[in-house]
Amino acid sequence: MSSDLDRSSGPAGQSVASDYDSFAEAYAAETESNLINGYYTRPAMLDLAGDVAGRRILDVGCGAGPLLTALGERGAIVTGIEPSAKMLDLARQRLGDGTALYQGGLGGDPLPFPDAAFDDVIACLVLHYLEDWQAPLAELRRVLVPGGRLIVAVNHPFVYHLIRPEGDYFATEQWSDECTFSGQPAVLTYWHRPLHAITREFTAAGFRIAVVSEPPPAPGAREAFPDLVTSPSGYILCFLFFVLEAA
Ligand SMILES: C[S@@+](CC[C@H](N)C(=O)[O-])C[C@H]1O[C@@H](n2cnc3c(N)ncnc32)[C@H](O)[C@@H]1O
Repeated sequence: MSSDLDRSSGPAGQSVASDYDSFAEAYAAETESNLINGYYTRPAMLDLAGDVAGRRILDVGCGAGPLLTALGERGAIVTGIEPSAKMLDLARQRLGDGTALYQGGLGGDPLPFPDAAFDDVIACLVLHYLEDWQAPLAELRRVLVPGGRLIVAVNHPFVYHLIRPEGDYFATEQWSDECTFSGQPAVLTYWHRPLHAITREFTAAGFRIAVVSEPPPAPGAREAFPDLVTSPSGYILCFLFFVLEAA
């Protein structure tokens, strides 16, 4: 399967499959209040996280920091890590110097945190950029306390089957999607893996799957995006959400 972007090596040697530096501001602006991020992914992640007051939470691939902001407002003690310098700058502007923000990511050097440093880790729309999940998941488990939660949103694997019928749903394979963020073209390059491979990776890494979720968008989504929310149920097929518990 062809890819429009070459994989490159980012800070601290982690692999970065899509160049968020080149469209950071456009991505942050577009996703602030769009359907799939503002009305869907962020409310779903916050709902799964529940009461986070006092919890130490790492947001890995935190982007411009919208989830860090919301979790901090709910009383969590937040830390973000992000490979894209420009996305990280936007997070710093949003959160200020008082928030712990690091440049780095998954798939290269170990995360710059001691064992069991966090009660929860958030990986929102990040894992699907990685071909190999074994070492990244081991790292995420290492920085969690026993019983801590890894809360994940990834591309729903069935979407790949719908939009790339020529692809092999049952294989782990790379594909690229041409997008527009705030009018700026961008290419996102992902690794598709089938559902059984996703769940196998989680359990092999020592996580217990506590929740699998295909939530509805937030109230008001159909009214705000009538052309996009068209199913009778009001649900949209886009991402798959998990709450995993570190054994
Ligand atoms: C779709 S954006 C989501 C940003 C943020 N999690 C959110 O929900 O707003 C994906 C983010 O993952 C980051 N990313 C890409 N490769 C990564 C890696 N190997 N480790 C950690 N983050 C990565 C990108 O730079 C980008 O900021």
